[in-house]
Amino acid sequence: TEKNDYDGITVLVTAGPTVEPIDPVRYITNRSSGKMGFEIAKAAKSRGAKVILISGPTSIEDPVDVETIHVNTALEMYNVVMKFKGKVDVFIGAAAVADYRPAIYEVNKIKKSDDALVLKLVRNPDILYEFGKEKGNTFLVGFAAETENLIESAKAKIIRKNLDLIVANDVLKEGAGFSGDTNIVNIIDKNMNVKEYPLMSKTDVAHVILDEIKNLFIR
Ligand code: C5P
Repeated sequence: TEKNDYDGITVLVTAGPTVEPIDPVRYITNRSSGKMGFEIAKAAKSRGAKVILISGPTSIEDPVDVETIHVNTALEMYNVVMKFKGKVDVFIGAAAVADYRPAIYEVNKIKKSDDALVLKLVRNPDILYEFGKEKGNTFLVGFAAETENLIESAKAKIIRKNLDLIVANDVLKEGAGFSGDTNIVNIIDKNMNVKEYPLMSKTDVAHVILDEIKNLFIR
């Protein structure tokens, strides 16, 4: 599928984890490597799309010819993504956005004591959900990384987040985890049709996702 079937299409992709600082030396994050999102960005570029990649911290190099915007926190990612509302044809939320951030950022390093430390966390905005509220003509794609009830949770997310497509993967399955180069996915569209795919490289998964989007959206 290395044709130019995405010519004239603008694709926005979020990738990677977000990092939520506690104090100057500590933070909360998650196991996302960013590989899936970066592969999607590269694949879309190779098929002719104009691609904007908004990524949390990863160890991956910026893809060639892709406008890559680096962020740290979920709030930063949210603010950047919202600038593109109404301006992209496709938004693929592949980032593992932290659901919570510390309620207070301590300007000075927290001193340890013999007592237990209670850290209060508050909710981060759900970027995909907020984007989906008034998505206009943007085709919206989400991810569901789960450890149980994969298909049911993914279907619920389609409705709650107003998605057109969701890519679901069981992160406990061998070969489908966060850091590897492979993934095992189910792709579900908003009519609740479920397609199950075998173990594939993240590059191939990226192309399969773009094939699905193309079939459903791009004339
Ligand atoms: O609800 P859950 O976090 O499982 O949904 C995952 C999907 O929602 C992913 O596409 C992820 O990028 C997106 N998401 C988001 N902002 C959040 C949490 C999740 O955009 N705060």
